[in-house]
Formats: sequence, structure tokens, C-alpha cells
Amino acid sequence: MDALEVLFARRSSGRLVAPAPTPADLQTILRAAAAAPDHERLRPFRFTVLSGSALEAFGEVLADAYDARCGAAGTEPVAAKRDKERTKLGRAPLVLVVSAVRRPSAKVPWDEQLAAAAAAAQNACLAATALGYGSMWRTGDPSYDPNVKAALGLDQADSIVAWLYLGSHRDGMTPPPNDPNLDGLLLPWPPTD
Ligand SMILES: Cc1cc2nc3c(=O)[nH]c(=O)nc-3n(C[C@H](O)[C@H](O)[C@H](O)COP(=O)(O)O)c2cc1C
Repeated sequence: MDALEVLFARRSSGRLVAPAPTPADLQTILRAAAAAPDHERLRPFRFTVLSGSALEAFGEVLADAYDARCGAAGTEPVAAKRDKERTKLGRAPLVLVVSAVRRPSAKVPWDEQLAAAAAAAQNACLAATALGYGSMWRTGDPSYDPNVKAALGLDQADSIVAWLYLGSHRDGMTPPPNDPNLDGLLLPWPPTD
């Protein structure tokens, strides 16, 4: 696939199966992520690879964090929701967590550091696509949960930008390429009103 084909071929797959990216492919995916545009080269991104038993272990972190959120809100945990938190990382054989870490800079505001981390996440998705893997970028409540941030070794001021589910498509389940349209996306300038 050439680069433009990869851009359009990247589609989200909710369920991915083994094989996960090989160690060599994962290295390529991580290096592609680290090649993201990055103002002042602050490297404001961090990557956490969850696979094998770490997926189950981190599922317990997510379930406990759900309990704590309920406790903080004064609500009773719902068993089915707790179970979903515990098992949801199993929707792929490997999950790559992309975080943005605040770097001190007089020149590069936090928004730009977040943007660099998001670009890293997208680079990882595109590299995975180019290597023949499926991917899906997810976030959700755990991304904003202080206990989950702490479990990843992040400061509370940092941000979890993406949970990238990576793996192989099930037989016959490779999604068709994206076919975006530009309706409503172009702002004429000077404005016409
Ligand atoms: C920052 C971000 C967070 C997202 N979080 C979720 C999520 O938690 N759950 C979900 O179903 N889709 C989420 N998505 C959207 C999917 O990744 C996907 O892009 C969308 O479903 C469109 O499908 P496509 O990627 O095949 O075009 C998120 C996308 C972004 C950029």
C-alpha cells in the first residue's frame, strides 16, 4: 500500500484477534508514533504496551477505578458495567496507551503538546494499518480517571490521549476503506454572508 492508500484503509475494528503485532512490527509502530510532529522536540508523549497477562491485570485496575468513581459519585457499582471495565481490554490482543505528558515550555502550550501526542497516536494507527493490522482508537471514562493515570505512572496533569486496540482482523472482517466527503467542512474565506 502506498501512503495515501494507508490513510484511507485505516478503519476502526471493534474486535481484533491474535496475532498481535510482532515485536519487530511493534517497534516500527512505536517508532512511527515517535516520529510525530512535535514543536520544539519536547517529546511530550509516552507509550504503554499492554499485552498477554498485562491486559487482564490492567483490567482489574479499570474495574477498581470504576468502583472508585462510583464511590466518589455516591452510586452503587453496576455488576455488568464493572465486568465490562474488567474485560474490555480483551477486545484486542494488544493495547497501546498513548499519553501526553506535560513538558515545561515557555513556547509550546499544553494544547500543542496534546496535539503532538494525538499525532503520535494517529501515526501508530497508520503504521499498524500499513503493516496489515487492524486498529481502533478508544478513550472513555478511564482516560480521565485519576487512579488510572496513577496506575500508568502519569501525573494528574498529564492526559491519556488514546487506547489503541491493535491486532489482526477476523477472517473476512477487514473493513472497507474510508470514503469521506467534505460536506460542510470547507469554510469559505473571505466569509460569504
Ligand atoms: C480522541 C478519540 C477518541 C475516541 N474514542 C472512542 C471510543 O471511546 N469509543 C468508540 O467507539 N470510538 C471512539 N473514537 C472513534 C473511533 O476511533 C473511530 O474513529 C470512529 O468510530 C470512526 O470510524 P473509522 O475510524 O473507521 O472511520 C475515538 C476517536 C478519537 C479521535
